[in-house]
Amino acid sequence: MNIPKDTVTASDFLNTPSGGDQESATFIPLISVVTALRRTARREGRTMYRHGKLVLERYELLDQIGSGGQGELYRGRDTETGRHVAVKLQKARLFEPENSYRGMGDTFEEEAAMTQQLTGIRGVPRVIASGPVGFTYERRCIVLEFVEGPVLYDAMLRGRPLRTPTVASIIGQLCEILHRVHDRQLVHRDIKPENVILDPSGCVWLIDMGLALHQGEKTDRGDGTPGYVPPDEYDGCPDGVTLLSDIFALGCMLLEMTVMQLPYAGMAERPAPDCPVLPPDRMRRVPLQFRSLALSMVDRVPGNRPQGVREVFDQLRPLLPILGSKPPAKPLRPDPTEYYRTRRPTL
Ligand SMILES: Nc1ncnc2c1ncn2[C@@H]1O[C@H](COP(=O)(O)OP(=O)(O)O)[C@@H](O)[C@H]1O
Ligand SMILES: [Mg+2]
Repeated sequence: MNIPKDTVTASDFLNTPSGGDQESATFIPLISVVTALRRTARREGRTMYRHGKLVLERYELLDQIGSGGQGELYRGRDTETGRHVAVKLQKARLFEPENSYRGMGDTFEEEAAMTQQLTGIRGVPRVIASGPVGFTYERRCIVLEFVEGPVLYDAMLRGRPLRTPTVASIIGQLCEILHRVHDRQLVHRDIKPENVILDPSGCVWLIDMGLALHQGEKTDRGDGTPGYVPPDEYDGCPDGVTLLSDIFALGCMLLEMTVMQLPYAGMAERPAPDCPVLPPDRMRRVPLQFRSLALSMVDRVPGNRPQGVREVFDQLRPLLPILGSKPPAKPLRPDPTEYYRTRRPTL
């Protein structure tokens, strides 16, 4: 049998130098053990780096592309098809009690199940696989269709305030996606620019079903991202969640892209009681139609908001780019207007 040069055999640990005293006889094998372990670790590390770590025996982890409260996002590669995938991996367990770590794992599974329920909706990445990984099988992962392109948050910061047709194209596409999400009786509950990806052809994708719930589901916990959660939901939804929270968050995004400010107290604290307060000079620069739509979407009273995304879309329709029209002079990159310049809306 050929034994590679740096492979350590059991005899390396057992041989003691002849003629030495007892102390050095035990000392030398200990050094050998440590050296051998170091060599092995280094060798494993190199192999992992070269071939990538495999999860679910098929998906190779390449570079890390994000990190949230409970998960790490990797660009991965399906070793069978060669295609890129996105791998959302539960963070490794550190000091959490076993029970709470398991609870987080359950949340991962719920997220996978929710995303699975949205299969087939254009603009929602498909779940390719999910399950436990690692030696202990405690850690969960979700493998998703990979979407190329920046998150809207990064793209938006480069080009704010965005022009009306661009904003209308982004909100319009999100309405088309959310219409189907709501049709399947789900509420996303974490609509924000960090959870939207703009692909190279200007198509909008909605990601992160981590907080999604069924419509009508009751919860006594306020959830979501401060600044995008309606004031009436800060203490949970004892009467059940409704799609009106997604409409509120969409209105927040509209304001963020145009007047560059979130309504109410923004991200910092609980919503102030007598708002929305928005900068009047910037508000005046937004077309009246758009402004009043945004204000109705973020109305404190849920009943005063548009009651569905189709209603929002109907008000946006006149502001969308015309089919066949030219690209804007200074487009956002990628350019979301391309979507409506090249195809008819589905709503
Ligand atoms: N399907 C995907 N394709 C490409 N990138 C993705 C995908 N899903 C998530 N990401 C990237 O990973 C980041 C975090 O993902 P997300 O699902 O929002 O996790 P979290 O629950 O930590 O917020 C995103 O902002 C995005 O940059
Ligand atoms: Mg997210």
